[in-house]
Amino acid sequence: MFIHNISSMKILIKNGVIVTSTDQYKADILVQDGKIARIENSLPDNLADKIINVEGKLVLPGGIDPHVHMYLPTPAGPTSDDFESGSKAALYGGTTTLLDFVTPSKGQSLTDALKQRINEAKNSLVDYSFHVSPVEWRSTTEQEIKDCINAGITSFKVYMAYKGTVGLNDDDFYKVLQVVGKEGCTVTVHCELGDEVDELRNRFVAENHVEPLYHCLSRPAELEAKAVKQAIELAAKANCTLYIVHVSSKESLQYIKDAQSKGQRVFAETCPHYLLLDDSKYQGDFNQTAPFTISPPLRKKVDNDALWNALNEGVIKTVGTDHCPFNLSQKAAGISDFRKIPNGAGGVEHRLELLYTYGVLEKRITLNQMVDVFSTQPAKIFGLYPLKGDIKVGSDADIVIWDPESEQTISVKAQHQHCDNNMYEGFKTKGKSEFVICRGEIPIKNGNLITPETKGTFLKR
Ligand code: URP
Ligand code: ZN
Ligand code: ZN
Repeated sequence: MFIHNISSMKILIKNGVIVTSTDQYKADILVQDGKIARIENSLPDNLADKIINVEGKLVLPGGIDPHVHMYLPTPAGPTSDDFESGSKAALYGGTTTLLDFVTPSKGQSLTDALKQRINEAKNSLVDYSFHVSPVEWRSTTEQEIKDCINAGITSFKVYMAYKGTVGLNDDDFYKVLQVVGKEGCTVTVHCELGDEVDELRNRFVAENHVEPLYHCLSRPAELEAKAVKQAIELAAKANCTLYIVHVSSKESLQYIKDAQSKGQRVFAETCPHYLLLDDSKYQGDFNQTAPFTISPPLRKKVDNDALWNALNEGVIKTVGTDHCPFNLSQKAAGISDFRKIPNGAGGVEHRLELLYTYGVLEKRITLNQMVDVFSTQPAKIFGLYPLKGDIKVGSDADIVIWDPESEQTISVKAQHQHCDNNMYEGFKTKGKSEFVICRGEIPIKNGNLITPETKGTFLKR
């Protein structure tokens, strides 16, 4: 692992309750040289340059968001958060590592696109890595994948949707699975049958159904579930580890469960919006409904419940945000044709408060499960564990001091994400990051960002 910018400050975190994916106990933590140096019942004050008394607070491993799109180029302009603003919002939400994407232009090599993306991320305040997307299959793609692996990449991304731009056909998807599987790495996949979705989209527009509601209706759960089934079959044949991103529907879960019960290495991710929001959000005028034009679209309440159960049962292993925000002026590119609305919405700031409030406090998941899906599993699945994802001696000192009593309401006004809309507007939440520590630096103190000079680094996995 390649690390620089390590803080020499010695910090003593006293009297907190440490919560990991498996434990909950009271102890002190000494942070030294950016690492967790000691965890003991009672550590003496004279060990540290700085003491933080966190009585009554929870001490959690920093979050790893396995799915974000900062500064993603689209015909309507880039996502409204770049790496600097998006990583600041992430920090407020207790996330200290981001996994974004490398999406080459047609004809560009994967390695060249990776270099370009690492440069775009250089202003990130938190550590980062990427899933690399082969968006076409060329004679050089196999070698490019291997070169990316040598450069520290262990996961690749295939889109079964978005045919014509970044989507791959099944033959090329299979080739990627074969190469990546042989290397012992992971393919992450966006599951929606692209050709069928495109046919529905074109039919709706031809019938003059152009509103955001038809974005939702053109991407039915059945087309996600069929894609999930197909991806699982192809991955089994290619003997490749598969990670299905943003699972949104109950129908998809059965295929995932079946594969897992046969011992296939299939991981699944969902997002807070698929747990908490539903398709009633597509009723209203353009500015009310366009913020929810995301793919897959929001589903039904029955899907929300099935996803919570799947999280609780461990069928879904991670919660990522798919942070991909656009301002309303950008969404307006599709005011008379929903196909032109840039897909995506923000959320990197809200993952922990939503999981805590609507998961833990409503007893849908335990505190340990919350830590698991928020930090430990993303670290384990994507080759960052035990450096990240745990409160453990020797791990990076990426730590969130969580105030479980704080109460707030999510709003565009209060958010730190750069965006003029927020899918969770009006949601009441409990819990807030009081301190966030990144490799021994303390960018968030008493709930405020105070060290904008904190810099993240590219994590070679
Ligand atoms: O609507 C979404 N999710 N936009 C971001 C790209 C993707 O499909 O993940
Ligand atoms: Zn996607
Ligand atoms: Zn995404």
